[in-house]
Amino acid sequence: MTQKISPDWPTWYDSKSPLGSAVRYVAALSPQFDWVGIYVLKGKMLELGPFIGAPSEHTRIPVGKGVCGTAVAENADQNIPDVRAHSNYLACSLETQSELVVLIRDKKGKILGQIDIDSHTRAAFGPEEEKAVRKVADELGALW
Ligand code: SME
Repeated sequence: MTQKISPDWPTWYDSKSPLGSAVRYVAALSPQFDWVGIYVLKGKMLELGPFIGAPSEHTRIPVGKGVCGTAVAENADQNIPDVRAHSNYLACSLETQSELVVLIRDKKGKILGQIDIDSHTRAAFGPEEEKAVRKVADELGALW
């Protein structure tokens, strides 16, 4: 059976696997994106959903903890060019040098979760990367 395509859906979107399709699309945007995952906000806890990359021990992160939890607590995306210089950082992999967290919000602005990207390259996330990931987060938030 073929999937019914809505004209409003972005090209990457797969209704059978909305979060997985977003992760696959984002992971292919840059060879410097070494780990890409989506955390879903459930109450005061971020729970890891689909991801591409090495398994992470941080499958549940409380709001306020780490870069991921800080994004929710401060209601602001986080672009960390050097994770070693960051005091509130939860290490997933010793290879990670920089990290980008982009919040996913619904149409009313409520936080639903976040796209988290780790890179083995320092300062891997410039304005273009931020913009591209923000677009996916907005599209996903609208279709959540
Ligand atoms: N580094 C994150 C934890 C998640 S891993 O990067 C997959 C943080 O500090 O919240």
